[in-house]
Amino acid sequence: MILDTDLDLTLRPMKYPQFFQMYRNSLKNIWTTDELDFSVDFEHLRDRISPKEAHLIKRLVAFWATADNIVAHNLVLNFYKHVNSPEYRMFLGKQLFDEMLHVETYLLLVDNYIPDINERKEAFDAYKTVPSVQAKADFCFKYMDSINDLDKLDTPEKRKQFVMNLICFAACVEGLFFFGSFSYVYFLRSKGLLPGLATATNWIFRDESMHIDGAMGAVAAIKVDYPELFDKKLEQDVYQMLAEAIEVELKFCEDALEMGVSGMSPVLMRQYLEFCADARLVQLGFEKRYNVSNPFSFMMLQDVQPLTNFFEKRVTEYQKGLTVKVDDISFDVAF
Ligand SMILES: [Fe+2]
Ligand SMILES: [Fe+2]
Repeated sequence: MILDTDLDLTLRPMKYPQFFQMYRNSLKNIWTTDELDFSVDFEHLRDRISPKEAHLIKRLVAFWATADNIVAHNLVLNFYKHVNSPEYRMFLGKQLFDEMLHVETYLLLVDNYIPDINERKEAFDAYKTVPSVQAKADFCFKYMDSINDLDKLDTPEKRKQFVMNLICFAACVEGLFFFGSFSYVYFLRSKGLLPGLATATNWIFRDESMHIDGAMGAVAAIKVDYPELFDKKLEQDVYQMLAEAIEVELKFCEDALEMGVSGMSPVLMRQYLEFCADARLVQLGFEKRYNVSNPFSFMMLQDVQPLTNFFEKRVTEYQKGLTVKVDDISFDVAF
């Protein structure tokens, strides 16, 4: 059973081959920050970004400065500790590597976007000092701290608490907070702005989608072994947690857009977050709750072109080692 308290290190016979396969698939998606180039972004920040957009970008950078570190922390303290599958731990090892790449990417972003040393520190402090960023961090810490004392998952109640932590980080943190932040990047990209950030976001978007799939896979495996945990109460708790996450992300949105950015609004963002929440509920095997369409056409473009970014000069394919120029693209390129 996947939440057994005796450490399982046995890979043969393999009990959870789906996680081993996810791990193998994740190895095809390896990139490094050496491939990123923020030089055009720097020019845009100097010459083309309005003060309203600059405020939005400042808030995004403040969120990203610490967000992946929070995710990594929970991954090690809780996912790795409690999901008793050596195959899943292999997947988590790669996820941790990804999260460190994201941390490094956003460190580079802070260094490139914020020339002032004091303002850089402010970005890293934002999770304690800027209310809208703090609210997101507090939401994460609430579900992380709530299982601090769980050493062994030896009762149904404890297993349920862990399942809520797992769902929180997959559905609400990676699946809503990060997707919300990515949507602003693709909005800016639709206006021809910040191609370096757009490229980084393409790669991180793919990673996060994989991480969500991995955690959802863990939830599915837990559901097979412990179906009694997935009762009406858990479903209601998940609905409530997602609703809370949407409000927290909207608070961020209202702050980030407080000066007004034409084409984006809290009303549209609410609909987008509800759309994402429904997608997470479906992944969890629950009923949709909001039944709304995706209001952001620029995100739909992201969905239909998940492997290739046609907007930048250089195209880096999903699999490591397949870096080709735009002119070389053909539909014969194997992904
Ligand atoms: Fe991440
Ligand atoms: Fe992640």
